[in-house]
Amino acid sequence: MRVAFVGKGGSGKTTLSALFSRHLARSGAPVLAIDGDINQHLAEALGGEEKPALPLGAHLPGIKDYLRGTNPRITSPESMIKTTPPGRGSRLLRPLGDDELHARHLGRAGGVPLMVTGEFDESDLGVACYHSKLGAVELYLGHLVDGPGEYVVVDMTAGADAFASGLFTRFDLTFLVAEPTRKGVSVYRQYRDHAEQFGIRIAVIGNKVTCEDDLLFLKEHVGDDLLTHLEQSPWIRAAEQGRERGELEPHNRHALNILREAVDSHPRDWDRLHRHAVEFHLRNARAWADARTGEDLAAQVDPDYVPGGPVTA
Ligand SMILES: Nc1ncnc2c1ncn2[C@@H]1O[C@H](COP(=O)(O)OP(=O)(O)OP(=O)(O)O)[C@@H](O)[C@H]1O
Ligand SMILES: [Mg+2]
Repeated sequence: MRVAFVGKGGSGKTTLSALFSRHLARSGAPVLAIDGDINQHLAEALGGEEKPALPLGAHLPGIKDYLRGTNPRITSPESMIKTTPPGRGSRLLRPLGDDELHARHLGRAGGVPLMVTGEFDESDLGVACYHSKLGAVELYLGHLVDGPGEYVVVDMTAGADAFASGLFTRFDLTFLVAEPTRKGVSVYRQYRDHAEQFGIRIAVIGNKVTCEDDLLFLKEHVGDDLLTHLEQSPWIRAAEQGRERGELEPHNRHALNILREAVDSHPRDWDRLHRHAVEFHLRNARAWADARTGEDLAAQVDPDYVPGGPVTA
């Protein structure tokens, strides 16, 4: 199952992505954390890197070439775009699978397997946007065959930027982290409106709650979408200062359990995932990619493809 953490800048997306990933990993569940933010801080939040990950964004052509496999509808790596859906012949991956992509790009931080998109660097200025790097994550998730009890946790860019591509439709559940402030809940409203339009599940996680008034504020503005909340945490602050000791506070640990239950409580909807993949691909094809590649990229959609496997890498 795939989950994304989104929300206002500074709301706690990276912190909660890291805490949730570690919480899952400690329980023995297979988990992969992905840093999909322009500022790459997830490795640090996970608690140091045992094995630095080679950025996905730096090898986009290689990733495309690998994932297209022998799919005859994709004529060259150049004609594969971030939204190109898998079809018969494409390489489908298992999370943390024994394949070339994971061998190259899988790192480890704080005991958690980690992949990263990479920083937006100087050579990108004026020629690329961060979304092209995130395209590697979109392609990865598009070709992933994951199941219940397996978790992919993605730390996303701040604010409404998270919907600048079809990436926001690649998840089973999106956690929107909101502080009990007007700005925090305004990002929630924006996201809710986009999500509703596409039938995407979101759940709001209140964060840095200090008192009953904070909680009432969130309940008033978020209503039933409020799944749970984390309190302002001395443990998180101490960890941030490099003084990690003991266990996270019981209330906050309990909140992480609620997140997990929310992920586990809905079955994967392969049809919805594939329908969105095709829909966003056709949009991109029409908007820019047909002109850029000189091809009719709608032809990349394989009408006989059955989403969800079997794995072919
Ligand atoms: N529940 C909490 N209690 C105490 N401090 C917290 C809590 N959640 C987050 N923080 C602190 O808030 C700050 C911002 O958190 P974080 O970096 O996770 O936010 P973000 O949403 O990822 O930010 P950005 O938009 O910059 O990526 C950090 O210093 C973090 O330690
Ligand atoms: Mg962050």
